[in-house]
Amino acid sequence: MTDSASTAASSFGPARILGIETSCDETAAAVVEDGRVILSNEVASQVDLHARFGGVFPEVASRQHIRTIFPICEIALQQAHLELDELDAIAVTRGPGLPGSLVIGINMAKGLALSSGLPLIGIHHLEAHIYSAWLQWRPHNLSAEPAGVTPSEPRFPLIALIVSGGHTELVLMHDHLTYQRLGGTLDDAAGEAFDKVARLLRLSYPGGPAIQAAAARGDPRRFAFPRAWLEDTWNFSFSGLKTAVLREVRRLQETRTELPVADLAASFQAAVVEVLVGKTLQAAQTFNANQVLVAGGVSANQALRETFHAQAGCPVHIPPIALCTDNAAMIASAAYFRFLRGQNDPLTFDALPNWPFHEL
Ligand code: KG4
Ligand code: ZN
Repeated sequence: MTDSASTAASSFGPARILGIETSCDETAAAVVEDGRVILSNEVASQVDLHARFGGVFPEVASRQHIRTIFPICEIALQQAHLELDELDAIAVTRGPGLPGSLVIGINMAKGLALSSGLPLIGIHHLEAHIYSAWLQWRPHNLSAEPAGVTPSEPRFPLIALIVSGGHTELVLMHDHLTYQRLGGTLDDAAGEAFDKVARLLRLSYPGGPAIQAAAARGDPRRFAFPRAWLEDTWNFSFSGLKTAVLREVRRLQETRTELPVADLAASFQAAVVEVLVGKTLQAAQTFNANQVLVAGGVSANQALRETFHAQAGCPVHIPPIALCTDNAAMIASAAYFRFLRGQNDPLTFDALPNWPFHEL
């Protein structure tokens, strides 16, 4: 995107976009100015509802989105002190995600766009995770960043690692909205591996934060779990690691000793972090990228954040923890850059539950 494009848009005043996110188990709405300044950011989590199932129950998720979507949008507007007609666009996650969840947000967004006449912008969920790194809001309840964090916004060319519950993607970006997909997971996503191993260790749902908490008390060198480097490719694989943890758990159970959950969690986490950081930094070097961006739910992981900051010889952008997991501010941020390009989707557009990243 050229500077003149953004200058032209900003000469009409700041662009305020309402973002809506319902792709999985968070009902979220937010208002963001110029893709960067968060005016409101509301997230209604369904974690408690799904915890007893040990994962997201799609039918329960969509029913809860129906109950929450209207109030959450109202609160987001109230918190931003804005009326609908003071906005510039309505943005919503179009995919990928659970079909029954996506349609609730999409229909809400269509209703708001129809009644207001505002442009409607459908957003790819993973593109939104990338754009969470442009959000500059630092409210008092967001935890402090470790030393070495870069306060300025990301600059191109950069390597983006997106690690979420359903996806692991390594991407080269030369400009806004321009993606060269280098690789991704061949089996489990990084977050999925955390969730599955947590279940194996009988830790609570969601698995990522539970593994992180258990790992804090454990020895990451106790178990030498495999690292799938998949040399000469930019792909990842986590299913072998998951199976190795399963085998170790079974072996330990046969000896009838108490499971060393903390050491298992720490050793598993170390294996995931080593590969994610190693391959991302290698890609940055290979493609002469000056910066690295890490986003998605797993980027909330403390060990991953610290290892990136410790090992990278270039600026690393990782959103504040509260913006790593699903939220709507990131939808509104990505939508701003599409708004500058004039994107205005027809009211007839459908959800794309399996929308591949490489089709962006
Ligand atoms: O991006 P996200 O909120 O939703 C998807 O788009 O999937 O990511 C959720 C994933 C879950 O697998 C969760 O276990 C993981 O992010 N996660 C973490 C942490 N917090 C959330 N994984 C590792 N460490 C964490 N602290
Ligand atoms: Zn997500």
